[in-house]
Parts: sequence; C-alpha cells; structure tokens
Amino acid sequence: MLPIQPDRFLADLHALRKFGAAGVGKGVVRPAFSEPDIAARAWLAERMREAGLSVQIDPVGSVFGLSEGQSLLMGSHSDSQPEGGWLDGALGVIAALEVARASVEAGGPPVSVVSFQDEEGRFGVTTGSAIWSGNLTLDKADGLTDRDGVRFADARALMPDRSDSFVDPSQFTGFLEMHIEQGPVLDREGDAIGVVDAIVGIRDMKITLEGEQNHAGTTPMQGRRDAFQALSRFNMLIAERFANVVTPRTVWTIGHVTLHPNASSIVPGRVTFSMQWRDGDSDRLGRMEQIIRDTAEDVAQSGGFNLTFGPMLGLEPVDMDARLRDALEQAAEADVPGRWRTMPSGALHDATNVSEMMPVGMLFVPSIGGISHAFGEDTAEADLVTGLRVLAEAVDALN
Ligand code: GLV
Ligand code: MN
Ligand code: MN
Repeated sequence: MLPIQPDRFLADLHALRKFGAAGVGKGVVRPAFSEPDIAARAWLAERMREAGLSVQIDPVGSVFGLSEGQSLLMGSHSDSQPEGGWLDGALGVIAALEVARASVEAGGPPVSVVSFQDEEGRFGVTTGSAIWSGNLTLDKADGLTDRDGVRFADARALMPDRSDSFVDPSQFTGFLEMHIEQGPVLDREGDAIGVVDAIVGIRDMKITLEGEQNHAGTTPMQGRRDAFQALSRFNMLIAERFANVVTPRTVWTIGHVTLHPNASSIVPGRVTFSMQWRDGDSDRLGRMEQIIRDTAEDVAQSGGFNLTFGPMLGLEPVDMDARLRDALEQAAEADVPGRWRTMPSGALHDATNVSEMMPVGMLFVPSIGGISHAFGEDTAEADLVTGLRVLAEAVDALN
C-alpha cells in the first residue's frame, strides 16, 4: 500500500480553500483566471515541485506536475463556479498530489498530477481539457467570451509562466479523477464510494432575442415586443415540446440571463440567455437541439423578434475504461465491502475530454445532502479519506 498521509492531504485541501474562501461554511469563489485562481495555481505548482514533479503550465493555464518517463496521470481542476464549494475539482487535484507524493516516497509507481483550467466553464465547457484533447480548437476557444464579455484569449494571457507548448499526452498510461458526487445518491444510500461507469453528454449555447425597448407605462400590452416575455414563452414551450423526447434523467437549464436594460420602467428590448441540456444519449441531445432551435424560431417569428444563436459547445457521453474501473471497484470492495456502487455521472468532468487520448477512470465520494455548485457543498472528512485510500489502492493494483 502506498504510504499516503491523510493529515497532509486534508491540510493541503484546507490550504487550497483559502484561495477565494467566501460565503458561509466552506464556500469558494475562484473562477478561472481570477486573482485567487492564479494564486492557487502558483501555490499548487510549488507543492508539485516539492513533491519532486517537474511543472509545466500549458498555454491555456492547465498546471501539470510531471513524473519522468511513462506515468499515470491523476487530477481534476482547481477553478470554481462563480459561487462554488471547496471540493468540486479541488478534491481530485489534492488527492492526486498526495498519491504522487506517496508514490515518490515509495519509489513508484510514477504518478503525474494535473489541475485543468476552466473546467467550470467561465468561457467554454471544461475549456482547458477540451483544448488539450482537441475537442475544442484553441482558435475557437480564444474567441469565446465570459458573461461580462471578457475574451478567453485575454484571460489566458493573465496566467504567468505559461509554456509555449501543450503537454505530450503519449507519456501517460491512463487518467484517474477523484471527485465529489455532487448529487444525492451516495449520501442517501449510505454508500462511501461510487465508481463511475459513464459520464453524460452536454450541449450549451447562448441565445439572443431582440425586440423593442420602450416605455413601461405608455406602451400598450398589445403590440409590445418584450424580450422577457419572449424568453418566458420560449421556456414554457420547450418544456412542453421536450415531453415526448426526454427521460427522467434528462436535464436542461437556463442558468444565466442578461436582460437589457434591466430596469423596472422599461419594456426590455433584448435578452441573451444560456441554454444548456444534458443526457447520456447523443441522439437525444440532437433531437433536443432541433426542438430548441425550432422553438426559438417560432417565438421570434410570431412575436417579431430578431433571433441569434451563439456558438454551439458540447461534449459527447463517454464510458469509463473497463480496466481502470475494475481496479477502482476491487479497491472499493476491499476497503468498504458492500458500501460502494457503480453509477453514472450527471455532472461533467475533465475525464470526458481526456478519454479521447487515454483510458480514464473516475471515483466519487458522497456529497452531504447532494449539494454542489453552492457554498453549502461539503463531504465528511472520513469519506474524503476513504476516497483517497481507495484511489491509492487502485493505483497500487494497476502498477
Ligand atoms: C461541471 O462542473 C458541470 O457543470 O457538470
Ligand atoms: Mn468538478
Ligand atoms: Mn463543477
């Protein structure tokens, strides 16, 4: 068994949380390329160097700690949502760091560590690993903007010490990512570990409807071209039209809305909103896209709105590698017999992109109350340590 040190792992996890600590409980505000994110990445690079790894920060800000020769890559991301928790991504990075340290101390097996940049999609969808894997071209990524109009190209220029080249993936034999579940299943069922069998696919695009801005007191209801009303109608219609297409696991979200000019006494003239949908079946994602596009056209035409669609981003559903999954399952059964399950991931992960280049496996630990992408996200420390142990046991067995 690798000589992992749970106290050192927990201390580093708490130390990482200090970058961008916010809100009540253990909240974090550390979006990609924000000051705390850049500082956290510098801190992480230092921890990697101390562990004997050689650091390479790629052109988009993903931080790699590389072991010599062929190695197993492990990690996740250290950026957060605009309001996030302390474990989403951070757990996988610090667990990987601890396993890498332990393996250096034990004389092997070689483990490299990564924190991908912008997994949380300030600009794209799992942007850093999507670019590394070729799922997103650097050119297309550079043109993407965040919700305040900042371009990815300008944001990544803020990241110091970037290399001119991307890390060569052929040096890695596979990728393991530990993560919190971010859902209610493990917590509700009293299981300590989830071994992931597949990750859902996603589609994401911005939609803009432009009507007519006018006075909220003098403009008769009849004939208004109110952008908020258009969005409201669109939202209602897609729910009706999805009914025969979706399953209970399919999800869709309008999570960000910019209403212009966003004032009580003005009929809003323009709305731009995010439309995101997820499912484990690519065909279904495609059928939903058609419904979304047709419905937006219908709303625009019937109400006299100008309609534009932003760039379409997405990732396909992927299965985990059978050998890595088997190693994780065996380690779970040895460590917490009968208290683990195989399960799909409804959240996205860098592992989806990395699966284009090498075998990938994923491990979940419970999220208390199923809460994530919120300040209240948490996991019992005993469960964090169980996850670390199972991960280390799997790495040992894969050697
Ligand atoms: C990643 O955080 C996701 O949105 O699933
Ligand atoms: Mn995550
Ligand atoms: Mn997340």
